[in-house]
Amino acid sequence: MHLQHLPFLAAIAGCVVQPVVAMPQARTQEGSEGTCEKTKVAILGAGVAGITAAQALSNASVHDFLILEYRDTIGGRQWNKPFGKNKDGNPYIIEMGANWVQGIGSPDGPQNPIWHLARKSGLVTEYSNYDNVTSYNKDGAADFSALFDAYDAASEIATQMAGKALAQNIQDSTAKTGLAVAGWNPKFNDMEAQAVDWWSWDFEAAYSPHESSFVFGYAGSNLTFNYFSDHDEFVMDQRGFNIILKDLASTFLAENDPRLHLNTEVTNITYSDHGVTIHNKDGSCVEADYAITTFSLGVLQHGAVTFHPELPPWKQEAIHKFDMGTYTKIFFQFNETFWPSETQYHLYADPTTRGWYPIWQSLSTPDFLPESNIIFVTLTNEFSRRAELQSDEQTKQEALAVLRKMFPDKTIPEPTAFMYPRWTSEPWAHGSYSNWPPSTTLEMHENLRANTGRLWFAGEATSPTFFGFLHGAYYEGLDAGRQIAAIMKHKCVNAKSPKLRECGPRKHYETLHGTTFHSEYTMLNGWAVDSFVDNNPDEEE
Ligand SMILES: Cc1cc2nc3c(=O)[nH]c(=O)nc-3n(C[C@H](O)[C@H](O)[C@H](O)COP(=O)(O)OP(=O)(O)OC[C@H]3O[C@@H](n4cnc5c(N)ncnc54)[C@H](O)[C@@H]3O)c2cc1C
Ligand SMILES: *[C@@H]1O[C@H](CO)[C@@H](O)[C@H](O)[C@H]1NC(C)=O
Ligand SMILES: *[C@@H]1O[C@H](CO)[C@@H](O)[C@H](O)[C@H]1NC(C)=O
Ligand SMILES: *[C@@H]1O[C@H](CO)[C@@H](O)[C@H](O)[C@H]1NC(C)=O
Ligand SMILES: *[C@@H]1O[C@H](CO)[C@@H](O)[C@H](O)[C@H]1NC(C)=O
Ligand SMILES: *[C@@H]1O[C@H](CO)[C@@H](O)[C@H](O)[C@H]1NC(C)=O
Repeated sequence: MHLQHLPFLAAIAGCVVQPVVAMPQARTQEGSEGTCEKTKVAILGAGVAGITAAQALSNASVHDFLILEYRDTIGGRQWNKPFGKNKDGNPYIIEMGANWVQGIGSPDGPQNPIWHLARKSGLVTEYSNYDNVTSYNKDGAADFSALFDAYDAASEIATQMAGKALAQNIQDSTAKTGLAVAGWNPKFNDMEAQAVDWWSWDFEAAYSPHESSFVFGYAGSNLTFNYFSDHDEFVMDQRGFNIILKDLASTFLAENDPRLHLNTEVTNITYSDHGVTIHNKDGSCVEADYAITTFSLGVLQHGAVTFHPELPPWKQEAIHKFDMGTYTKIFFQFNETFWPSETQYHLYADPTTRGWYPIWQSLSTPDFLPESNIIFVTLTNEFSRRAELQSDEQTKQEALAVLRKMFPDKTIPEPTAFMYPRWTSEPWAHGSYSNWPPSTTLEMHENLRANTGRLWFAGEATSPTFFGFLHGAYYEGLDAGRQIAAIMKHKCVNAKSPKLRECGPRKHYETLHGTTFHSEYTMLNGWAVDSFVDNNPDEEE
């Protein structure tokens, strides 16, 4: 392992971005110990979190890092593909993953860092207007906009309740409970209300209100949509959304920088309080003083990477506590735009099944990709997984049947192009983005975020405030990079106020306690079995 040789020089260099210094080490193909490539910091994953972590290290004059990435490009879940054909016969570039800059911020208030990058790259975007929506049921267009208003009114009350719960340490619940108490309680057989419920909650969280934390669901959307702004921009830049990350990387990584190892699948991570060794599928390995994994929660849950020693119980529990949702966009190109092209969103209420091909987004719309004849429908979770398991053809026919119901007066042609990603099955993602389940606490999340020895965890899912979003991944990468740089330079403690720990190991909890003491399980509480002897002497009254 390296020691920190040059703390003084490094401190003097401060945060100035240094020109890229090519690292002399040759890439080692041998797996045996002692022949691994050595580095100070190994960054695992080249998505938003990995790239911002590397930038934070660079800024702190730590240039000795390596980035290991499964795929052949940086970007991670900012992932695009060519689709269909434009008038010149060339494909459009469409986003399989992240598609919006959400909560762009305001000129005087805080600005979303992703929006900042978007503007730097001149990203082509358009205002996503969620009021620009037409609703449909099985008989065609059907105006149920009054339900949108009813939801919004209750949601306004619910966010206040959730804010109070957070501030006053009141127990969390499900978002469904919060909404019901606030006055939104859609009947299971009111399919139009169910469609509005899906569009208002699942479309963002990928999970239903029933499956989502009340307090942190609202806190999360508040932080993005109130703290930044209630304004989303939809990206249709034909360079792909991840151009912003490529542009960012180019400020500190050279083209073909030897520190970026693409096509490198990490399979095994050995960690301790002294360092981290990473083994890759191709037999190569890396020995680092510190490592930051930015793998998605899905990758961790799936056991796609093994850890030695096994991750401690508190970490494993946290990994399986939080949820990885799947969000699937299914793209169609037709030979004509048979739907009203001036409308951005088309919401469909299926007569029997909530979440059945519910939201159709037109790209063949002014200011988007006009005359592209492209429309896409979004599925979440169980319907995503169902579509992943069935053939493209089955999914296509189900979706076309829905379009025939929405537009009974039109003849719906077969699409000329059709495509959808299978996020749950992607070995480098295993899902789309994370969500907080009901009755969560910040401590549970601290366990997800905490380091184990010198292995740090960052990414979308480790952000308590912006989980699920690009800006969450951005801040988490930045924080892990900064913290590790500060630790390496022994600059952790605030000199003026030594108690104020600015970095250092993150807190975790070996045991998370509930709120009910064993002595409270009594007949008086209806606990009808009187066989409980107090076996916990710590809690004697
Ligand atoms: C369908 C979808 C829609 C979304 N919509 C939006 C949106 O509109 N707005 C928004 O703000 N956010 C959205 N998100 C979320 C956003 O994409 C993520 O929050 C963000 O991209 C996560 O960045 P990350 O760096 O944490 O993780 P990732 O981008 O997943 O980066 C992790 C990297 O690790 C690599 N990796 C994984 N396993 C291995 C391995 N074994 N070895 C080596 N490398 C490995 C991966 O290839 C990947 O590049 C969406 C996500 C999806 C999937
Ligand atoms: C790195 O420094 C640049 C230039 O000062 C700054 O714009 C950027 O936000 C910094 N990034 C991180 C991750 O610290
Ligand atoms: C959301 O923001 C509103 C307005 O600032 C605030 O009153 C409310 O308490 C917040 N709710 C949560 C859950 O943070
Ligand atoms: C992972 O690496 C450790 C240490 O090098 C080794 O003991 C273990 O067998 C490896 N496990 C797998 C699954 O490769
Ligand atoms: C809906 O959005 C489209 C595309 O931006 C726009 O042309 C149209 O005017 C909008 N309609 C309304 C009612 O805002
Ligand atoms: C699109 O295809 C359908 C069915 O093949 C056909 O009836 C229709 O005329 C075509 N539309 C255009 C604009 O070519």
